[in-house]
Amino acid sequence: MTKEIKNNIFYCGLNHRERKFFDELIPLPVGTTYNSYLIKASEKTVIVDTMYPPKSDEYLEKLEQAGVLSVDYIVANHGEQDHSGTLPKMIKKYPQAKILTNPKCKEIIQEMLHIEDEKFQTVADGEEISLGDKTLRFIHAPWVHWPDTMFTYIPEDKIIFTCDFLGSHSPFENLYAQETPELLSAAKRYYAEIMMPFRNFCKKYVQMLKNMDIDMILTSHGPIYKNPKFILDAYGKWISDECENKVVIPYVSMYESTKEMVDYMCEKLSEKGITVRPFNVVEEDLGELAMELVDACTVVFGSSMVLAGPHPAAVTAAYLAGILRPKTKFVSFIGSYGWGGVLTEKLEQALSTVKAEKLEPVIIKGKPRKEDFEKLDVLIGQICQKMKSCEK
Ligand code: FEO
Repeated sequence: MTKEIKNNIFYCGLNHRERKFFDELIPLPVGTTYNSYLIKASEKTVIVDTMYPPKSDEYLEKLEQAGVLSVDYIVANHGEQDHSGTLPKMIKKYPQAKILTNPKCKEIIQEMLHIEDEKFQTVADGEEISLGDKTLRFIHAPWVHWPDTMFTYIPEDKIIFTCDFLGSHSPFENLYAQETPELLSAAKRYYAEIMMPFRNFCKKYVQMLKNMDIDMILTSHGPIYKNPKFILDAYGKWISDECENKVVIPYVSMYESTKEMVDYMCEKLSEKGITVRPFNVVEEDLGELAMELVDACTVVFGSSMVLAGPHPAAVTAAYLAGILRPKTKFVSFIGSYGWGGVLTEKLEQALSTVKAEKLEPVIIKGKPRKEDFEKLDVLIGQICQKMKSCEK
């Protein structure tokens, strides 16, 4: 589909429903999209962002079918290859096209794709380029989520292209966002994996977009937001410093001892009115864990001991939490061992980037006894007290 969005601005991206993982890390339950846009202004033809390389032939055919015979500019808002990867083929097909991007993005694209200098025209923050009846205004927006990220605004149409920022892995037929819980969930999963580590930058750009005159937000993954408030309000909640009254317990249990501890904590915390989400890190989708981390006040990692250390699946979950840097306020560890070892050290190392207060872990030998449950009661009491102190 090459559909008109507004005043000679067209959608020319593609769905990729079969894709199973993004960055080979977070599962994509329904696939994703790579959005690209065609602007036919009175004096210039422009493409905004291109295509993931495995889809490049399909994409180029689509442009051909849309009658795109020549292109003056290709805007590269970001150098990651799901958006820039088709540039080498594009500049071959449209040899007169200049790639408009910021200096950092140019550097990254050149490193990744070996495109010669003369094909680029770098743009400064705030610079404008006239296309005749439309203007491109470039807004450097580093760190959502790479140092090269940029937004492009068309003041005449009040449209902004934000590339990855505010996106979602949600294929679509209709161009426009249906404001459903499913879309919100896809956007949250996307935020958790891609944007959460840069929460403070997100705050700055959400505020900036709220202050701009914008009718539509065109991202490079997922549907178009005709109502910018929908996604900006959702981000407002995710990026705020406030957490939900929730404890997430990512765990792995080999012989049910750790599981018994997890079940006990779930029961007791629930009785105290706290939302608890036990999460089996071996069986469940790590994207769901990432989403839970977006707003959980406390995270308690549970692990069995394997060869004198934590189970590798628990280390992976802790490492994931460490790199995603959630706003979690409190963290602790529970687990059980058979003959010995150190359970918490590697998990703590993996979480060193998370600025959370550590609560005293409960590590026991074998199947939990009465005194072990009493230790868990102490931890539960601490969690309740700490979380209460965070309530507004
Ligand atoms: Fe959709 Fe950072 O690439």
